Amino acid sequence: RSKGSPAMAGAQGESNHNGVGDEGFAPKKEGFWVLYQGCWLRPVAVESVKLVQEQFQARPDDVLLVTYPKCGTTWLKALAFTITNRLLHPAAGDDAHPLLARHPQDLVPFLEMPYRQIQHPVAELEELASPRILSTHLPVTLLPPSVSGLGCRVVYLCRNPKDVLVSLWHFINKVNETYTIDKAFELFSKGESSYGPIWEHNLGFWKKSLSESDRVLFLKYDEMMAQPVEHVKMLAEFLRVPFTEEEVSRGVVEDVVHLCSFDKLKSVPVNSSGVSDWIGGVPMENSSFFRAGKVGDWANHLTEEMAKKLDGIVEEKLRGSGLTF
Ligand code: A3P
Repeated sequence: RSKGSPAMAGAQGESNHNGVGDEGFAPKKEGFWVLYQGCWLRPVAVESVKLVQEQFQARPDDVLLVTYPKCGTTWLKALAFTITNRLLHPAAGDDAHPLLARHPQDLVPFLEMPYRQIQHPVAELEELASPRILSTHLPVTLLPPSVSGLGCRVVYLCRNPKDVLVSLWHFINKVNETYTIDKAFELFSKGESSYGPIWEHNLGFWKKSLSESDRVLFLKYDEMMAQPVEHVKMLAEFLRVPFTEEEVSRGVVEDVVHLCSFDKLKSVPVNSSGVSDWIGGVPMENSSFFRAGKVGDWANHLTEEMAKKLDGIVEEKLRGSGLTF
């Protein structure tokens, strides 16, 4: 069985969508996902997306952290949490900092699915105090209309698709050995991956970030890795809790970067050991979210031919948009 995230859980070789004939569905040939309103989802994810669409009550001051799976969700959650809670929990010198006791994934709830420790139905998000920070893998087309209608802000984090593919493959392959790199490549290149196609996901938020730049902050994993301090400052401003000059001079931004860094988080016992209950009792190793944390690790796993082919597909899909990887 899959240990996957809401996104990954799809790639476990299930073929239980047979007979799904609802509107917006098209049967998938090879057995992992169904196409729901243009987005590949596992059947169980379709159910929870419908629940979000029916039940989620957005608030104007909500901020959504949106990612395609394996683009750095865990990192973004850690950063957003640390930035917004820094008065109560300073990033340095606080032995009681929540990130030292809880997995970053558990500190910011997912919108569309009970996730790890947070087993809420959508309606329970109502109980969270404002301003809420929530997380989702949903493409722009599947977000409840109130999110845009109420002007909720979105932080979108994307990543080079080749690194996403490799990260995804490692993640799923831990629990499903039939998901070979060849298979993963074949499906991913066709756009078939939970919440895919990835280029549609990226493009949807890219366009929003151009047309509604005050509402959508569009970030790239590679750039964040290269310039973490600048990005943490940018994120804090977007979250409306900018660093003061005094904080900057005290090195608070660097403290946030350090606490949320791959090496630091990976070393925290709650992230390096143990298993969490996933969805419906599926076991999930906490360490699965901290693998290599590198830019360009694809080169160790994809052949040159694969890389060239995927680059070509992505370039063609993004052509004319201004978005490049
Ligand atoms: P790799 O598999 O390439 O190492 P997500 O959180 O969306 O599931 O993405 C997981 C990817 O982000 C993994 O990539 C993981 O190692 C990387 N990651 C996790 N925490 C990180 C951090 N603090 N900084 C940078 N990358 C991180």
